[in-house]
Amino acid sequence: MASISSQNRVPKVSVFLFVFTICCLFFSLSHVVLAQSSPVFACDVVSNPSLASFGFCNTSLGVSDRVVDLVKRLTLQEKILFLVNSAGSVSRLGIPRYEWWSEALHGVSYVGPGTRFSSVVPGATSFPQVILTAASFNTSLFEAIGKVVSTEARAMYNVGLAGLTYWSPNINIFRDPRWGRGQETPGEDPLLSSKYGSGYVRGLQQRDDGNADGLKVAACCKHYTAYDLDNWKGVDRYHFNAVVTKQDMDDTFQPPFKSCVVDGNVASVMCSYNKVNGIPTCADPNLLSGVIRGEWKLNGCRYIVTDCDSIDVFYNSQHYTKTPEEAAAKAILAGLDLNCGSFLGQHTEAAVKAGLMNESAIDKAISNNFATLMRLGFFDGDPRKQLYGKLGPKDVCSAENQELAREAARQGIVLLKNTAGSLPLSLTAIKNLAVIGPNANVTKTMIGNYEGTPCKYTTPLQGLAARVATTYLPGCSNVACSTAQVADAQKMAAAADATVLVMGADQSIEAESRDRVNILLPGQQQLLITAIANASTGPVILVIMSGGGMDVSFAKTNDKITSILWVGYPGEAGGAAIADIIFGSYNPSGRLPMTWYPQSYVDNVPMTNMNMRPDPSSGYPGRTYRFYTGLTVYSFGDGLSYSQFSHKLIQAPLLVSVPLEESHVCYSSECKSVAAAEQTCQNINFDMHLRIKNTGTMSGSHTVFLFSTPPSVHNSPQKHLVGFEKIFLHAQTDRHVIFKVDVCKDLSVVDELGSRKVALGEHVLHIGSLKHSFTVRI
Ligand SMILES: *[C@@H]1O[C@H](CO)[C@@H](O)[C@H](O)[C@H]1NC(C)=O
Ligand SMILES: *[C@@H]1O[C@H](CO)[C@@H](O)[C@H](O)[C@H]1NC(C)=O
Ligand SMILES: *[C@@H]1O[C@H](CO)[C@@H](O)[C@H](O)[C@H]1NC(C)=O
Ligand SMILES: *[C@@H]1O[C@H](CO)[C@@H](O)[C@H](O)[C@H]1NC(C)=O
Ligand SMILES: *[C@@H]1O[C@H](CO)[C@@H](O)[C@H](O)[C@H]1NC(C)=O
Repeated sequence: MASISSQNRVPKVSVFLFVFTICCLFFSLSHVVLAQSSPVFACDVVSNPSLASFGFCNTSLGVSDRVVDLVKRLTLQEKILFLVNSAGSVSRLGIPRYEWWSEALHGVSYVGPGTRFSSVVPGATSFPQVILTAASFNTSLFEAIGKVVSTEARAMYNVGLAGLTYWSPNINIFRDPRWGRGQETPGEDPLLSSKYGSGYVRGLQQRDDGNADGLKVAACCKHYTAYDLDNWKGVDRYHFNAVVTKQDMDDTFQPPFKSCVVDGNVASVMCSYNKVNGIPTCADPNLLSGVIRGEWKLNGCRYIVTDCDSIDVFYNSQHYTKTPEEAAAKAILAGLDLNCGSFLGQHTEAAVKAGLMNESAIDKAISNNFATLMRLGFFDGDPRKQLYGKLGPKDVCSAENQELAREAARQGIVLLKNTAGSLPLSLTAIKNLAVIGPNANVTKTMIGNYEGTPCKYTTPLQGLAARVATTYLPGCSNVACSTAQVADAQKMAAAADATVLVMGADQSIEAESRDRVNILLPGQQQLLITAIANASTGPVILVIMSGGGMDVSFAKTNDKITSILWVGYPGEAGGAAIADIIFGSYNPSGRLPMTWYPQSYVDNVPMTNMNMRPDPSSGYPGRTYRFYTGLTVYSFGDGLSYSQFSHKLIQAPLLVSVPLEESHVCYSSECKSVAAAEQTCQNINFDMHLRIKNTGTMSGSHTVFLFSTPPSVHNSPQKHLVGFEKIFLHAQTDRHVIFKVDVCKDLSVVDELGSRKVALGEHVLHIGSLKHSFTVRI
């Protein structure tokens, strides 16, 4: 998302942020409550009894009848007010202005005009940036966070500070390590992204009264689709045409969106800025009406929204249509319902007058928008008398919610290297801990982007200093680290029993509209780390705070650097969680949700090449653990524990038959695969039984990954994740884990034409170092 104007998009953002800063300052200095303290809602029959006669205000009627009643009362000009994020009011019908744009990527956010903080609610719980939460591989955590966020959102709505419609989560595949927004996503794997998206959405949307038609708040899966480049070497998202094969589309870019709509029942999907194969996503009837509504059955109580301001972008920047009226008509006729921006407000009436579209198309769009608001209770009168009406400021930043932020960071943090005798540090042995680095005492850096004002911060230094005596030096003035205080840092490390180096990136290195070209640690960081390691006497723990992976090969191979931790952007309680892990009060269990490539990878691979699969003829190496076979710094799924876990196979099939009709062509000629959509290819399941044991001396959680390597047909992935399960095991105990595998769903691959196929022949399942082969035949 960017600002709302096509011209000078960037300057406008800065003006907005500037104004915001001033407001914050004003609020905190004066403690004056300027905000209204009541929620915005329609059908206030208490203040205005005449509204009770309107069918759309009648809660005994169904949503669709109420929507029909409302739409028929509106003039064309009034209808158009409801096509944009800053929706207009119709006072004769008791409908107030409503701002659709709020954000809640990892906590209620002030990005988006629908939500703000004040002295009434000065902050909200700020969870780790999504990439770190994803590293927990804990699906119940994804949902638990969503639930807390929606509770805080409702509480803020009740005092007039927040909206009900949140444009989160971001479930684009983290295709390339340079992407500045990779931090916002659940990583590079379609299955993990699907589980994250549907879990977080359920947490946001699901009501506690079991009313499945109602919404606690409305979520939105974005940015549809194949969007994962912001600004790289002069190519920006407003002009980029993502050239995507049918195969990559259907097995990499689309699955998270499909899962979000089908499994997560998300209330909304947002189309992106970029073009896909020459067509802007927000103008593509096939991608919107065809796939989202047609194939995935996004029903009429859910809406499709543009990124801000995608229609303007495809008219003014991509010159996709000759006139603005055509752009407006194309978007609405493609299946769009709501425009973040003002474009549809300005050009829709003229588009109708010019005969480019009928009013009925507008009716359809606003009906979807109204239906969403009805599901949220917006047309049911005072929300303080409804299910979530008792929530208020006391429910935001509660001790319990803040503890979950700390727990989420602990669960996500990944231990990448640990030489015997390094971590965990002993509280009794360490009398003096040196804490060094430009990220060692940061606050805002820890919450990444799409952030809100947090309840409070615990910096890494504060977290560590709460356990032992520390000395502290930033080492560089910021993460860009153009000069480093090498000698002072060496002296400090030499005098300490152990050294923790907190390095990495922040939004000045990787951000929205800012992709990297370099994935090494910025500036002089590497030099500083190496010099400190060389001078230190005790263990040296390198903590990388970043969204994207870093080429830290130098540290991996340096024996003096005894441990490496990746902490993402760990949220408001990040420093406490880092200390929990370093001192062993929590046993690390996070696993990397994305490949960490060497710098040579980005030197050789253009970010603009969307292909997932390698191309031997050009030397193109492919992308992600599913296709890339070259060197990595760290791999998808990497992550150590203070314990060890063993996997034992108890039961798995050696042979699976997919029966076919007698007349099937595969009986007369040899087939390499059969269609997963075959009538007979349904519900062919087997259970895989495993015994997982914690063979170490410390209790801890462990993620069991089930990968599959299919026979090599259809350019299929070398391996792909079929399932994962995170379990907790006390030291020296074991547990039986069962994976239920649906052969046609879970083990199938997408062929060159985009159809799912079950390959015939030998499949290999991997669990840790365990391998099990079995044959699929007809
Ligand atoms: C609301 O709808 C119900 C069901 O159709 C109807 O019985 C009732 O009279 C309506 N209420 C008002 C105030 O019109
Ligand atoms: C408008 O509606 C008429 C009558 O249903 C139909 O024939 C025409 O194709 C529609 N125009 C557009 C642009 O959809
Ligand atoms: C660490 O950061 C906190 C919060 O910004 C600040 O209050 C504190 O003074 C800093 N500590 C040091 C030693 O600089
Ligand atoms: C490490 O320290 C030793 C002596 O303490 C010095 O000779 C060597 O050059 C140093 N190496 C680096 C990479 O700083
Ligand atoms: C998953 O997260 C939930 C919520 O924080 C937690 O209660 C549970 O213990 C976690 N599971 C494992 C196996 O760590």
